[in-house]
Parts: sequence; structure tokens; C-alpha cells
Amino acid sequence: MKIAILPGDGIGTEIIAQAERVLGALDLRIESERALVGGAAYEAHGHPLPEATLALAKEADAVLFGAVGDWKYDTLARPLRPEQAILGLRKALGLFANFRPAICYPELTAASSLKPELVAGLDILIIRELTGDIYFGQPRGRRAAPDGAFAGAEEAFDTMRYTRPEIERIAHVAFRAARQRSKRLTSVDKANVLETFQFWKDVVSEVHSEYPDVALDHMYVDNAAMQLVRAPKKFDVVVTGNMFGDILSDEAAMLTGSIGMLPSASLDANGKGLYEPSHGSAPDIAGKDVANPLATILSVAMMLRFSLNQAEAAARIEQAVRAVLAAGLRTADIWAEGTKKVGTRAMGDAVVAALAGKPAITTKH
Ligand code: IPM
Ligand code: MG
Repeated sequence: MKIAILPGDGIGTEIIAQAERVLGALDLRIESERALVGGAAYEAHGHPLPEATLALAKEADAVLFGAVGDWKYDTLARPLRPEQAILGLRKALGLFANFRPAICYPELTAASSLKPELVAGLDILIIRELTGDIYFGQPRGRRAAPDGAFAGAEEAFDTMRYTRPEIERIAHVAFRAARQRSKRLTSVDKANVLETFQFWKDVVSEVHSEYPDVALDHMYVDNAAMQLVRAPKKFDVVVTGNMFGDILSDEAAMLTGSIGMLPSASLDANGKGLYEPSHGSAPDIAGKDVANPLATILSVAMMLRFSLNQAEAAARIEQAVRAVLAAGLRTADIWAEGTKKVGTRAMGDAVVAALAGKPAITTKH
């Protein structure tokens, strides 16, 4: 088994370093190779997704991805911006199914911006379609921009678009995931306004006939955004398009206390996947040893389970993370009165120690 490790920018390198240590502590026969991506790749090779990085990602059994982006690249032409690396990888590898679990760990209930009783025990799964919608629809562009700049244009446009096979395959993934859980699926759309999402709703309903044991309901995206903060525990599995999924998954993440805790998996049709924390590159805290590495460490667990057939090792990581939280260790994003604040590396140390069966708490001097 071989994995491609793409740390990227900002806190990406720090959190990936801790994830690599955790992986190394498991004694699995996994070969890994690192490559540059995002702004780091642009600096070195003039492109955010160099050929060699893409080739490595294609050849590997799974990809572990940190984060990309930095404000200093905001003025670059769009094809050269760091975000194009992750969008390009998703498209080139056919990673159409994005799993974004939002789990509120009992120890972190107080870190949520909602009342504890609304989020205690929250465990929902957002499944976001990842290679279609307005993100990739053609045509897109701007008119009357002689110098190519947006400022000089009169009009700019993107195209929201889904084909039947694109909706069908994500619907099948979502119904199967719902079957493994509480057998409830909410499909989020904007069918009251958009052609694309009336079609989405109808195709999801058609696919539903193959899963009579799963209860399906449809919800408009604005209402879903509201229900997520009103009564989040009413949801179980949510399936939606690329754009709505981008927004709702950030909202759901914050319910759990910190986006720094949440892993994600982006899968192709054969179980190959790219695994990344749900958060971004956070350039404001990069290099300060304060970022939370747990989302990336939990992404390693998802990778072991979904792509590398190592469910037992995945469960060991998840238990180690729980043990560290139970022992009261917290990075700054999840810190609360009465817990012990630790940095990125110390959090990695604690997870590695917990994997080895050592107590996670460090003695104070
Ligand atoms: C995400 C991010 C990306 C997206 C950006 C970085 C292109 O926000 O993974 O949710 O919009 O998909
Ligand atoms: Mg996003």
C-alpha cells in the first residue's frame, strides 16, 4: 500500500507532520511519498498542482492532504491559485463523494456556539457532491474585460449544472451510507427556484425507489441552514450538491465546537480517496505550534478504514483521540477553563502515547 502525502500551505505542514507520526506509530506496512501542492508548489514549480504531484496522487492507493491557500496568492490568476490544486485533484481523481461527519465529542460540548443540550451527542454526516455543480459548470467567465481583469468587466457568470449520472451516483452513495446508520436521509436542494435542483430532487426521489428501507425527506437549503442551528440532532445523513454542501458543512462543523476536530473523505467510485481536515490552511496561526492536528489525525483513521482496509487501526486512532480528550488536553481552539492547553506537537505526542497505551496526561513542572 502506498499513500501520497501532500502537506500544502499554512498549518498544513504542521498538522500533517503529527498525522505522519501517528501513522508511523501503528506499525503498518504502508509506504508513503511526499509532494508539494498549493502555494508551496507554486513557489517551487510555478503551478499549484504540478504534473509530478498529480502523477503521485494517481498512482497512490490514497492521498493524505493538509490544506492549501494564503492571502498572498489572492492576486494570482485563478488557474494559478492554491485552491485550484484541491479542485484539480478532486476532478482528476474523480472524487465525487465527499463525506464530512460532524460529531460533537462529549468533552467538547462547551466549545460549541450552541447550547450544550442542542449539540450533546450530535453525530451527523454531510455527503457533498464534489465534482459537479456551479464549481465546475461551463461556460464561466466574464465579458467586456479587455485586460482580463475583473475590475474592467461588465458581467461575470458561472453555470450551475448537474447531469443525471452525477446525481444518481451520489444519491446511491448517500442511500447506502444512510442504510449503515439510522436509515434516514435528507436531500437538500433549492427546487423552488432553480432548475438544476428541481432535477436533483426528482432524480434523488427516483433512486429512492431502490432503497425502500431508507426514509427520504427533501429540504430547501435556506431552511436546512436554519434547522442546523435550531435542532441539529434532527438530521442524520444529509446529501446535497457541491455549493450547498460547501456552506452547510462549515456550518455543521462549527456546531461541534471546532472545525479543528473534523476529518473528511473524498471518494471515487472504487473506494480510492483523498483525506483532509475540514478546515483550511489558517495562515494567521501557521508556524506557531497552535493548530489542532486532530482533524488530520482523524482523517488518517478515515483513510485506513475506507481506502486501506484497516478498520482496526482506524478504531485505535479514534480511541486514542478520545483518550487524549478525556485526559483534558486541548489545543487553543477547543480549550476551556479546567483543561490543559497544549500545542500542535504536544497534541501529536499525546495521541502517539495513547496509541502505545501510555497515559495521555503529561505532568506539570
Ligand atoms: C472546502 C474548501 C474548498 C471548496 C476551497 C478551498 C476550494 O472550502 O473544501 O470546503 O470550496 O471546496
Ligand atoms: Mg469549504
